[in-house]
Parts: sequence; structure tokens; C-alpha cells
Amino acid sequence: MRTFAEPTPKPLIAASILSADFARMGDDCRAALDAGADLLHVDVMDGHFVPNLTMGPDMVRSLRRALPAAFLDVHLMVTSPGMLIAPFADAGASHLTFHCEVTPARAALDDLVGAVRDRGMTAGLAINPPTALHTMTDLLRGGVPTGLALLLVMSVNPGRSGQAFIPDVLDKTRALAREFGGPASSIRIEMDGGIKPTNASEVRAAGCDVIVSASALFGAPREQWPTVIHDLRG
Ligand code: DX5
Ligand code: ZN
Repeated sequence: MRTFAEPTPKPLIAASILSADFARMGDDCRAALDAGADLLHVDVMDGHFVPNLTMGPDMVRSLRRALPAAFLDVHLMVTSPGMLIAPFADAGASHLTFHCEVTPARAALDDLVGAVRDRGMTAGLAINPPTALHTMTDLLRGGVPTGLALLLVMSVNPGRSGQAFIPDVLDKTRALAREFGGPASSIRIEMDGGIKPTNASEVRAAGCDVIVSASALFGAPREQWPTVIHDLRG
């Protein structure tokens, strides 16, 4: 199974299943992986951190059963990530990303990352477009906790797929990539929201090495998926 740790010459492409057809989820996920996607990105929304409701551990359990080797990158857009670590671990998640907006201090970050690591997963920390960069970097001052494998920069306000890319976040991304990213680092920089073949080169140039796509991928006819993934990867 792929991990975030294994170096790759080009960015990883994460298929965000929020834009898959929920009535044929397994089939769409298998087709996305067959078309070249490296991992499946699972958007969890709690109706509180964001207004929308999407999916939970039962979806991950079904995906794990159907696709035993798939890397399941779970993005928790929730107010209380701590209570979801065990349910997602039991369901078969590979990785859990939670948000810096709901991580009040370094001790809380250490607790969350430690709990994720203890359950055999890697952890990620995400930042929303309006959130100041120091909200994330203050938490990382003094070193990155063991087990934190990913920093996720949201390029739309979280809540749904199909929104327009917010280019302002590229500055934040460049700063994070300079400080924490690069091929020699154990941290990957992921970007999520509004990414298409036409703007992916800016995302790659800013230093992202994991690119999430929902609508640009699942919204295209299936026969175009290999081309979309190839063009996102560059
Ligand atoms: C947004 C989610 C994203 C979303 C991306 O709240 O976190 O993962 O599915 O969708 P697109 O690629 O369509 O912007
Ligand atoms: Zn996401």
C-alpha cells in the first residue's frame, strides 16, 4: 500500500470521492485508482465545523473491504476530531487530517497526532483559506510531532466540491513548502479545492506534492480520467 512517506518524483493525485456517484461508490473508486489516482480522499463533514453532512466510518469500512490495498486519506472537517480517531482506525483508514482551527494548542496537537499514530495511521493538519498562516505554524513551533506526515492547504472554503479555486492561498503554500516541504522532508504539502488540469501547474509550482481532485476528475467522462490525472500530476 502507498504511504505519504514513500518519495515520488511527481505529486500524488488524491481522488476526492465527494464527487463520485454515491450509488456506485465502489465502482467509481476502483475506476479512479485504475485510471492512475494514487489514493482516495474521503471528506468527512459534521454539520458543525462546516454546514454540510457527508460520510463517516461506515463508508471507510465499506471501501476498505472493497479495496483492501487502497490508501484512504480521511479529511476530517469536524469540530471534535479526537472522538473520531478510534472509529476511523477500526474502519480501516490509512491517514487522518484534522484542522488547525479546532486544535487549540501544541498539547492538543501532540495528543491528536499521538492517538492517530498509536492506531497505526499517519496524521495531517489542515488550514482554511481565511485562517492566518501562524495559526498553523505556531502549533508546529519547536518541531513537527512524529507521525505528522501532511500539511493540507484548503484552496476553497470547505463544505462542498465544485467551488472556484482561491489563488490567495498560494502564498501560504509557498511559505509552508519552504519551511516544511521538499523531497528530503517527511512532510507532504497537500492542496484541496478547485484544482483542475488548467490550474494544477500553479499548485505544483507552489510546492504541493499531493493534489486533491473531486469535480475535475469525477465530473469528467470516465474515459477521460487517465488524462485528467496525468494532467493534474504534470
Ligand atoms: C471541500 C473538500 C474537498 C472537495 C474538493 O470541502 O474538502 O476535498 O471535495 O472538490 P473539488 O475538487 O471539486 O473542488
Ligand atoms: Zn477534502
